Amino acid sequence: MRLNKYLAECGLGSRRNVEELIEQGRIQVNGKTIMDFSTQVDVENDVVQFDGEKLKTESKVYYLLNKPKGVITTTKDDKHRKTVIELIPTNLQIFPVGRLDYNTTGALLLTNDGDFSNFLTHPRHNFERIYLVTLDRDLDAAHKAMLTKGIIMERRRSRFLSMEYPKRNLFKLVRVSTSEGRNHFVKRMFSTLGYQVVNLHREEFAGFRIDKIPLGKYQKLDRTVIEQIKRKKIVGG
Ligand code: URA
Repeated sequence: MRLNKYLAECGLGSRRNVEELIEQGRIQVNGKTIMDFSTQVDVENDVVQFDGEKLKTESKVYYLLNKPKGVITTTKDDKHRKTVIELIPTNLQIFPVGRLDYNTTGALLLTNDGDFSNFLTHPRHNFERIYLVTLDRDLDAAHKAMLTKGIIMERRRSRFLSMEYPKRNLFKLVRVSTSEGRNHFVKRMFSTLGYQVVNLHREEFAGFRIDKIPLGKYQKLDRTVIEQIKRKKIVGG
């Protein structure tokens, strides 16, 4: 198995995270520091270490968190702010799948399964995200049409897949869907047209909805649910 895949399976993070650890010279195979992530390891016989500590593969866990405000979507924070990891009591090395801003609330998956995290966040798979957005002023109908048709944002054509006003006569509140995972995508889309997002809540990510989970709480997901998502995507394209 390739070294980066093995490290992700040991729960050290997503492929990208583990590639950084390899580049930093923190991984040894049979006592030798390895800097090439395509190195093949023999899972049965090779001794793989991280900072000198022997690794073994972990069982995979999956959590769906309703992220509250004021919590950062990383595993550690230099400024000692509370992280999403602290909301889930486990000894396993889980990490967030993608990210939500500090003050964004809603659906966030956490896992120690690096492959599944890559699968969900890879742009090729186009997993849908649904957000409820509160703006600083009413969104006018022409701007709404532009945002679904497509605008140029940072030299790339960008659009929401769908948009609706979920409440009658309330034009500051908008529900949008997108398969974009770019950082601050929703806020940047609106700010391109001069709106500020004052509240952002993710209702759904890749079919995982958080309407039954209170803010700050989580639900442990069954492995079979995860397998279903993978199959559906492969069959459905
Ligand atoms: N888009 C944003 O601007 N912020 C988030 O937290 C998620 C999507």
